[in-house]
Amino acid sequence: MRGLRRLFAMLLLLLVLLAGWLVVAADAGHRPEARTGIGPASLSDPALIARGDYLATAADCAGCHTAQGGRPMAGGRLLPTPFGNIPVPNITPDRETGLGRWSFADFWRALHTGRGRRGEWLYPAFPYTSYTRVSRDDALAIFAYLQSLPPVHRPTATGSLRFPYDRRESLGPWRALYFRAGEFRPDPEQSAPWNRGAYLVQGLGHCGECHTRRNAWGGLAAAPTLGGGQIPVQNWYAPDLSTRQHGGLQGWSAQDIVQLLKTGQSGRGSAFGPMADVVAGSTQHLSDDDLQAMATYLVSLPARAPVPDVDPTSHDDALVHQGKPLYAEHCAACHGKDGRGMAGVYPPLDGNPSVIEPSGINATRAVLLGGFAPLTRAVPRPYSMPPFAQRLSDAEVAAVVSYIRRSWSNRASAVRPEAVGRDRQTPAD
Ligand code: HEC
Ligand code: HEC
Ligand code: HEC
Repeated sequence: MRGLRRLFAMLLLLLVLLAGWLVVAADAGHRPEARTGIGPASLSDPALIARGDYLATAADCAGCHTAQGGRPMAGGRLLPTPFGNIPVPNITPDRETGLGRWSFADFWRALHTGRGRRGEWLYPAFPYTSYTRVSRDDALAIFAYLQSLPPVHRPTATGSLRFPYDRRESLGPWRALYFRAGEFRPDPEQSAPWNRGAYLVQGLGHCGECHTRRNAWGGLAAAPTLGGGQIPVQNWYAPDLSTRQHGGLQGWSAQDIVQLLKTGQSGRGSAFGPMADVVAGSTQHLSDDDLQAMATYLVSLPARAPVPDVDPTSHDDALVHQGKPLYAEHCAACHGKDGRGMAGVYPPLDGNPSVIEPSGINATRAVLLGGFAPLTRAVPRPYSMPPFAQRLSDAEVAAVVSYIRRSWSNRASAVRPEAVGRDRQTPAD
């Protein structure tokens, strides 16, 4: 039995390597030629650097490339993926451990085609699947900005990817299936703000990396664009971003979206979990015009098909019944008996996308961990929510979460105590 299994594993590996080689061979045909002509003088142009700073913020490069308490862009974090942890490299201009020896052609190839300086394939934990839509001009500005930073000597940490994913060749089939290099093409039928918004959302903002469902191979599944999806390992649900019928943001206006991205709060919900980091590190710093453009694009996303219930037995009204007094005791003081919250202070739960998203994970984890809205310039001291992990049992959390998912106008599925038990195991970060 074991021999057979090993044989299978070997065959699988051979297949993966062969497919990888085939893709390399195919890729070699259309490599971007090393266009140079970008002299050091133009890279140090202060206007270009300032623009690059803004664009790097829109792309939230620092969100991954800066470790907690570490020097900006010097790397050091490990990104958890279902295949193991991937270390985030140093992208300061240090010559040994960063991008000090990189030319713009090297950088463009990394951002646009997901290849390192020696041509090796990069793991798509670096969201080049989105950044490939970033224009060359914008990439140049980002490069100029990165090269203007103080160099930090910091070797990249070692990761813990499992075999065969620790071999970069294993990315061959993945790339063949899920990655196409290509720039953003404006839609001439649409307005300039719509196109700007689409460019920011699909490219620099890489919103789809979280807000689109992934398949078991970590590819963005053939699902509707920005149709919502569960973030693997981190265990949060990034809701569907359509504001139309059956959309995750059904009923949101462009203004609500702008408010959420700028302040971390809106009359319809507030940002928490990974979205709080996106707002704090990136979107709150964008210009009002750019936020308005992103909202213009998002409100144009089409209506969705109704979401089928994950578990048809999950309309468990006994749970909902048990949840009612728990809600009155622990939650109503802030979120209101009617679930409408208090404008600018406590988010509403009625109609809140994160309460009614299909998985139930967000509401469960908000109750277990409490909520910390991002600190923004607009709201420097947001109200927060206490954690209930110590105070409520799995059965009680399931009951109160089922109650908020099925009360007022909410009609989402109930959440079972076993699911709460699983969500307790996921670390907060
Ligand atoms: C979601 C996390 C994430 C974000 C956001 C992100 N990166 Fe990365 N980046 C990574 C990871 C992880 C790697 C390592 C990939 C690998 O080892 O294959 C990486 C690799 C790179 C590399 C290759 C470095 C090398 O030594 O080979 C460059 C260049 C880079 N990133 C630049 C950027 C820039 C510029 C931005 C913003 C426009 C950005 N990254 C945003 C996670 C991220
Ligand atoms: C790292 C993953 C991640 C990225 C990248 C991301 N989001 Fe989110 N987003 C989430 C999660 C998780 C939630 C659910 C939690 C919440 O409601 O704040 C969310 C919620 C939202 C909401 C609903 C907020 C609410 O109160 O229900 C909006 C609107 C949104 N995101 C827009 C965006 C836009 C626009 C971008 C790109 C600029 C983006 N997100 C990028 C993870 C992400
Ligand atoms: C002391 C006031 C307070 C209490 C009590 C409280 N919450 Fe909250 N709750 C908040 C605040 C403030 C936020 C926003 C935090 C954030 O954005 O991270 C929040 C966020 C949430 C969210 C995420 C929705 C969103 O858009 O941010 C859910 C779900 C939630 N609360 C449910 C509950 C439930 C269920 C209870 C009772 C078990 C409860 N809350 C008790 C203040 C409270």
